[in-house]
Amino acid sequence: MENRVRERLTEIEDPRTGLNLVESGWLRGIGVDGRNVSVELRFGYPCDRIAADFSQQIQSHLEASDDIDAALVSSDWRVASHKVQKDLSPQQGIRNILAVASGKGGVGKSTTAVNLALALAQQGGRVGVLDADIYGPSLPRMLGVSGKPEITEERKMVPHRAHGVQVMSIGFLVEEDTPMIWRGPMVTSALQQLLSESAWGDLDYLVIDLPPGTGDIQLTLSQKIPVSGAIIVTTPQDIALLDAQRALQMFRRVDVPVLGLVENMSVHVCSNCGLEEAIFGDRGGVDMARDYGIPLLGRLPLDIRIREQSDAGLPIASGDADDAIAAGYRAMALRAAGELSQQAKSRQIEIPNIVVQTS
Ligand SMILES: Nc1ncnc2c1ncn2[C@@H]1O[C@H](COP(=O)(O)OP(=O)(O)OP(=O)(O)O)[C@@H](O)[C@H]1O
Ligand SMILES: [Mg+2]
Repeated sequence: MENRVRERLTEIEDPRTGLNLVESGWLRGIGVDGRNVSVELRFGYPCDRIAADFSQQIQSHLEASDDIDAALVSSDWRVASHKVQKDLSPQQGIRNILAVASGKGGVGKSTTAVNLALALAQQGGRVGVLDADIYGPSLPRMLGVSGKPEITEERKMVPHRAHGVQVMSIGFLVEEDTPMIWRGPMVTSALQQLLSESAWGDLDYLVIDLPPGTGDIQLTLSQKIPVSGAIIVTTPQDIALLDAQRALQMFRRVDVPVLGLVENMSVHVCSNCGLEEAIFGDRGGVDMARDYGIPLLGRLPLDIRIREQSDAGLPIASGDADDAIAAGYRAMALRAAGELSQQAKSRQIEIPNIVVQTS
């Protein structure tokens, strides 16, 4: 019977990983009591909002089996710390750093980073977001936070909190025009400090909004910051795609897995008549994802509400509203987390409990 249940579970795909439940590694245990069975699952990504529905779906699938009367499905989740570049070790207190990058500027990288972070936090994940865009920090405005961070007794900066995520930005620390005169090495060290001297509170994910481009700064960052996975943002336009390919290759060169591609501004939906137009061409992202063998994590429309809400400090994924765009960001975020969950785990040294015996 146990094998039968296991077989049934292989028939259900987890859309977050693209693999079935057993291949995804979620099965923790099967209990059998006559014709009643119980299944215990542990997902590798935060899923508070969807776990009940998914469990229900799994239960129905099991109970549709001739030889099963009742099935009980229980689940929880835990985010593992995944492998980073060869010569680095994961940042203390942060299980995974996710880099959001693009080759070209203005394609919606910051918008994607912020909505990704918010969506993961809504599923229960402990999430931070770091604005690495030294020359054009945009997270303070997008998340509606500003002001110098407080300093802890250990002389660490306390990230601001907004919409359930921890936020740190160079924009909190310097005058707006100062970074323009910074040279590459200053930028790199400023970022490393922001990362290591912030009091991040035990994060599952830290989303880093990288500056646009694939120049020296980006290359150094991709080598020096311990990243578990990269997400590439592009518009479907040919020129943006070429730049996206450069970004993708940059991460591959430093052995950071590219979790997938986000196609932004895919279609424009007219707010008057609802007409859908592919202003920047269609299928660009689909084709690139296929050519490079990476998942297309999501396609977000060009929609005035995305910009308006960002400008107002209330990113579209922040609301509870069940509108299609917010849902699109949530699905994209879970797909990215699901993709990360299938990457190799970091081999952290487990410190054994030392028991001192007195005799
Ligand atoms: N899907 C979208 N629909 C409508 N507006 C969007 C969309 N995505 C981003 N925008 C808007 O486009 C502008 C640029 O987006 P964003 O700042 O996220 O891009 P970026 O890639 O981070 O830019 P930069 O290279 O300057 O850092 C912003 O005003 C943002 O609100
Ligand atoms: Mg930006």
